[in-house]
Amino acid sequence: MTLPSAEHQVLIAPSVLAADFAHLARDIAAAERGGADLIHVDVMDGHFVPNITIGPPVVRAIRRTASQPLDVHLMIADPDRYIEAFVAAGASMLSVHVETVLHLHRTVAHIRQLGARAGVAVNPSTPVSALTEIAGDVDFVLVMSVNPGFAGQTFIPSTIDKLRRVRALLDAADSTARIEVDGGIDAANIGDVVAAGATIVVAGQSVFGGPDPEAATRALRAAAAQAVAR
Ligand code: DX5
Ligand code: ZN
Repeated sequence: MTLPSAEHQVLIAPSVLAADFAHLARDIAAAERGGADLIHVDVMDGHFVPNITIGPPVVRAIRRTASQPLDVHLMIADPDRYIEAFVAAGASMLSVHVETVLHLHRTVAHIRQLGARAGVAVNPSTPVSALTEIAGDVDFVLVMSVNPGFAGQTFIPSTIDKLRRVRALLDAADSTARIEVDGGIDAANIGDVVAAGATIVVAGQSVFGGPDPEAATRALRAAAAQAVAR
């Protein structure tokens, strides 16, 4: 997988959770025409989060239709059991929640061994300090800006300060890992999360909730670029 490497470049990752599951190929193609850099896929198990979504067979189907790398976000209990299946299905980036894993260093190393980029996700109530010992070993940190489970929730404002503190932690560990932010992002607040240090931005409802995912993706890119230029 080739991820654009320029550190300042913000990657837009539309979340298919908010797309029409009966027309995933159509919706993904629209987001890619609008400039989507990644396709974000939310995997939920009804245990770690209240919702149930998709598994490896659907990820494999998305892999066949998408042009961009798949960024698979595991919101499942005991994710170690499924890491190989999701990488085999086509995940280029795979994130696990710190709240779900007992031996996080081993899990991150396993994801990397399989050839994917390893991410560690934190819930809104999980302190930044949960990342201290793993900061030097991850490819990206996913900061949840809503409580995971559903698309279309409202952005939690304290995330802005948390993003700054995660960036400071990564810098202190000499890590160039990217920060991904996920939940409630739209064209109005994307500038704030980018200014606070996010360089991967997930967007579900604001891309697929309206009639024109292509234009919505383009608008997010433009707003992010403006924030970078400031
Ligand atoms: C929430 C998921 C998100 C969600 C984002 O649990 O992890 O990726 O799809 O959707 P929006 O952008 O609508 O909050
Ligand atoms: Zn997600």
